[in-house]
Amino acid sequence: MIVRKNQSELERMRAAGLLVYQILNTLRGMVAEGVSTLELELMAEKMMAEAGAKPAFKGYSSANAGKYPYVLCVSVNDEIVHGMPSQKKILKKGDIVSLDTGVQLNGYYGDSAITVAVGEISQEAQRLMDVTRESLELAIEKARPGNRLFDICGAVERHVLANGFSVVREFVGHGIGTQMHEEPQVPNYVDRRNENPRLKEGMVLAIEPMVNAGAPGSRVRSDKWTAVTEDGKYSAHFEHTVAITANGPWVLTRP
Ligand code: MF3
Ligand code: CO
Repeated sequence: MIVRKNQSELERMRAAGLLVYQILNTLRGMVAEGVSTLELELMAEKMMAEAGAKPAFKGYSSANAGKYPYVLCVSVNDEIVHGMPSQKKILKKGDIVSLDTGVQLNGYYGDSAITVAVGEISQEAQRLMDVTRESLELAIEKARPGNRLFDICGAVERHVLANGFSVVREFVGHGIGTQMHEEPQVPNYVDRRNENPRLKEGMVLAIEPMVNAGAPGSRVRSDKWTAVTEDGKYSAHFEHTVAITANGPWVLTRP
């Protein structure tokens, strides 16, 4: 069942979404050569505490890996998602850094991710980031009553493939609300075996393309969390929490 939210619930999700935006925006400004990924974690944690929000990721339980220990996922270069902050992981010129975080505020979740360059990066890495961000924007455009889920999935997939990149299949977007992960799953590809529900007013989706420069394959490192590309090539990730309204898509995680 896909839970639909009323106006006052959407307002609360908006508050959670804006906090996530503010955190990611602050972290974006901190990303630089020589910064450790743990510094980003500590800032995110501090901002959540100051806002009276609960981190969505810390303590989140996965069947395979147990509890995630941080408020932030930081995935660098060939890391796709769920990279863990570390004092030993120092950013360097040419890196691309995906920052993914979520909060729970007044009972509702917000979830968003951005990928940021450290100094000058290769043209290919820049194009990967651009195409991933564009694929998210094209998908958001489809988040309207009367469309179907596959319109969103297909918009991402088409743009990525047309640009010669590939879409990760093992990780998908999701409905979001009083739970971080609600129905439906929102894959970044069309799989005709899945259901293709019609989109309705009040549905809220976390749309999150994860795009590989090379092959789509991924594996999870021995830390049980960090997903990396099989071929070692770069991966980028952008995510927004998007409400479907009569007036069209309402991106809750940006002003
Ligand atoms: N944005 C990701 C998701 O929606 C991040 C989850 S990290 C976890 O699944 F630690 F909470 F698992
Ligand atoms: Co998400």
